[in-house]
Amino acid sequence: MMQTLWRNARLATLAGAEPWGWIERGALLTEGDTIVFAGNDAALPAGLQAGREVDLGGALVTPGLVDCHTHLVYGGDRAREFERRLQGASYEDIARAGGGIRSTVAATRAADDATLFAAARERARTLMREGVTTLEIKSGYGLSLEHEARCLRIARRLGTELPLTVKTTALSAHALPPEFDGRADDYIAAVVDWLPRLHAEGLVDAVDAFCETIAFSPAQTRRVFEAARSLGLPVKLHAEQLSDQGGAALAASFGALSCDHLEWLSDDGVRAMAAAGTVAVLLPGAFYFLRETKLPPVAALRAAGVPIALASDHNPGSSPGLSLLLMLNMGCTLFRLTPEEALRGVTVHAARALGLRDRGTLAAGQRADFVAWDLQHPAELAYWFGRNPCRRRIVAGAQADA
Ligand code: NIG
Ligand code: FE
Repeated sequence: MMQTLWRNARLATLAGAEPWGWIERGALLTEGDTIVFAGNDAALPAGLQAGREVDLGGALVTPGLVDCHTHLVYGGDRAREFERRLQGASYEDIARAGGGIRSTVAATRAADDATLFAAARERARTLMREGVTTLEIKSGYGLSLEHEARCLRIARRLGTELPLTVKTTALSAHALPPEFDGRADDYIAAVVDWLPRLHAEGLVDAVDAFCETIAFSPAQTRRVFEAARSLGLPVKLHAEQLSDQGGAALAASFGALSCDHLEWLSDDGVRAMAAAGTVAVLLPGAFYFLRETKLPPVAALRAAGVPIALASDHNPGSSPGLSLLLMLNMGCTLFRLTPEEALRGVTVHAARALGLRDRGTLAAGQRADFVAWDLQHPAELAYWFGRNPCRRRIVAGAQADA
């Protein structure tokens, strides 16, 4: 198979003991879709004859970015709801009055496949232009078997039509659809019934739920997780976003890949996640946009050795942003992550939150997804905002600009 030598790169490998896994005079050798060498160019095999050589011109190179939590497929927008919040209504008030997620459900059901696909494709391309090479997409705005399946099919199609890996998550337990008003337990029974069918069609890589006073209880969440477990599917959870429901400990007891949001996470929750190896996915975009003030317990997560990831949480209600780099900046300014933690949070730890071990660092054996940036130092990735320094995006060993 043809080898490509990518020369003249300054590598933040995120592997090894050095801060950033830094290699000043770096080179990468790829074969097909795999990295076969990542290191100092002086350590390249003598007499190497690669089929192709690319001079990266001294660019900073990092692993491809992984956005491990998005709700990318939906109809409409919630700009009017934003306006109402600025006139005094809270996110919970709007949700209780039947707006919020439910208004997006109505707009999603009313939109045809082509419209949903085109809008989601443009959102994905915006993320990709800033270096995203792997993207998680949740359902959760269909809330019926037909519409959940439709949204997950559209997510899968993005992964086949764009140079991008897409991981799909079934989040049917996101909100109660109007036809189940006052019958949350019946809705959970329906979700449990849909899951095997969605899975049989190959539409589900993981199962998620929204465990919150305005959504589903821990007991209801448990029923969804039991259904996932009986299908051999991994779980994740929207946990402790607006209150402490003990959701993280529940998810950890199911070996969850990740718990996400976590502003109200307790010490018990931290311990349970550490013991289960569950990744903490922090979502500074939603924290910022909902003007939350309770900070996720970053120091306790660090002390317990819980891997921390960052994601865009792109959705029309609580985080209508399409810049993962802005999340690095916000992760540092709002949550006091270090720039290196922020970069690990959108690469190696984000990959782990999706159950992926084949990406997130630059090392032999890893998938050849990487990004060349017009930057000198990797701390700049978290420092600038409103600027796109992505110069080249390499996916599975081939240049694939968005
Ligand atoms: O991750 N927390 C629940 N779900 C989304 C928001 C969904 C919406 O408001 O449409 C989130 O923040
Ligand atoms: Fe979310």
